[in-house]
Parts: sequence; structure tokens; C-alpha cells
Amino acid sequence: MKIVHTPEEMTIWSNAMRREGKRISLVPTMGCLHAGHLSLIKKAKDLSELVIVSIFVNPMQFGPGEDLDAYPRQFEIDCGLAEQQGADIIFSPAPEKMYDDTFQTSISVGRLSRGLCGADRPGHFEGVATVVTKLFNITSPHVAVFGEKDFQQLAIIRQLVKDLNIPVEIIAGPIVREADGLAMSSRNKYLEGNDRQIALCLSQAIAEARKLIAGSTEPVLVSSVLTVVKSIVADAGAVLEYAEIIDKVTLATEEYVSAESVLAVAAKIGGRVRLIDNSILI
Ligand code: PAF
Repeated sequence: MKIVHTPEEMTIWSNAMRREGKRISLVPTMGCLHAGHLSLIKKAKDLSELVIVSIFVNPMQFGPGEDLDAYPRQFEIDCGLAEQQGADIIFSPAPEKMYDDTFQTSISVGRLSRGLCGADRPGHFEGVATVVTKLFNITSPHVAVFGEKDFQQLAIIRQLVKDLNIPVEIIAGPIVREADGLAMSSRNKYLEGNDRQIALCLSQAIAEARKLIAGSTEPVLVSSVLTVVKSIVADAGAVLEYAEIIDKVTLATEEYVSAESVLAVAAKIGGRVRLIDNSILI
């Protein structure tokens, strides 16, 4: 497996592979790879001959006071894991190679970026949309694979490629969970002591919501489901940032649960660790 650290080297490699007629997938990551990322790399390998894994902790998507400096980094381990899954090349640029002193452009995907995580993390999705566009331009993939755990991010990236006619097919990979239901996340590494147990309230609240809906023969009011979700999170001792039931494409709020509905939840565990989770409901 090859490792490159500059956008120039990365583009030369991709262009050469494209000239040879190879189909290329990109799996964008911020490293600290877990089983969720590995499932995306495997999916990418199934979809194309060559897989690029980018490892870049993107400063532009972290707000002031967020965990940019603390974000877990394990480059050597990540390279080994990516290689085992069949990655062909790692692209891991230094921040100054992506954002030099003259950098001044940002991409903003309007309405989809405003609610949910966008409300709690102003500027976050501009950072994501900008870096993803840069990664697409640098790596020229045919396909890019993103995880459904970052459900709003996925909707934004789909809109971005559509709006800007970016010729990359976006493929989604399902959430991978620990045996007890906790959605895999690089930030799970921050959970200490009892916080690991408290964090289960997100997946438990989702499971309860699904059970309530499955057990009803009548249309289910969104507000009644959210009441249950909120009380499970509060009883566990986590601080809810949002719990919303929204349309899976438009992210618009709904009055009744439908086959298009997604329950999305974000909460702070132990006052510090912000986790998200989501699921379709029917
Ligand atoms: O989902 C992530 O890890 C990041 O937001 C991404 C897509 C790699 C952009 O930095």
C-alpha cells in the first residue's frame, strides 16, 4: 500500500490510474479507524478496483473550543488496518498542504446544514463540504463511500454533488454497532468509566422509539415518540442536544412518523463527549 502526503502526488497517482482505465473509490476519514470505517473500505473495494483512504483531521470543520487538538490520532495503526481491508493508497496531507496562508474559499450547502448538528456546531458543515470538495478534486474518484452514522453529513454531500455537478457517485454504508448497541465512533475513545454505560441511552432511545412505532396500528405522532426519547436520555444522565424525527432526504420535520422518517439524536455524555446516532423508524 502506498502512502502520500501531498495533494500533488495524490492527483498524479489518480490521473495515472484513470488513464489505465481503473475505477477508483474514495473513503474520506479523519483517521482513528474503527469497524465502521473498515466496513466502508470493504464496501469501496467491492465497488472498484482501487481504494483511496484519506486520513485528514480537518481543522475547518471544528469550531472554537471543540476537540481538534484532542481528536484521537493513530496514523501507523490506521495504515495497517486500511491495508488489511484492501486499501491501495492512503492520502494523509498536513493541514498546511490543504489550507495554505492564502486560503479563503468555503462551500456552504444552505438549508440542509442549518438544523440538527448544524445548529449546535456553526460552520461545521461548511468545513465538511469544503474539505470533501477538495478531496474529490484532488483524488478524482468515481465513487465515494460515507457512513450513515453521520446522516446529516451524508444528505449534505449528496446535495453538494448534485448542485455542483460533481461526477462522483455517493454510496452509503450502514452504521456499525458494538455488541451492546453503541454506534461505532472515533469519539467513543473519550468515554471514561460510567460514561460508556450512559452513552448507551442513544441506541436504547432509538430502540424504544422503533418498538413503540412497530406496536402501533394507528399513525404515530412524532411528538409522542420524541417525548419517550427525551425521557430515556434524561433518565440516563446525558444532556440532550437534539432529538428530531425528520424526512431522510429533505431533513424537514414531520408531524407523523412515515416510512421516510429518521430519528436523529445528539447528546453530551459526562458533560464533555458529544455523540450522535440515528435510525430509520419503519
Ligand atoms: O466523517 C468524517 O470523518 C469527516 O467529516 C469527513 C467526511 C472525513 C470530512 O472531514
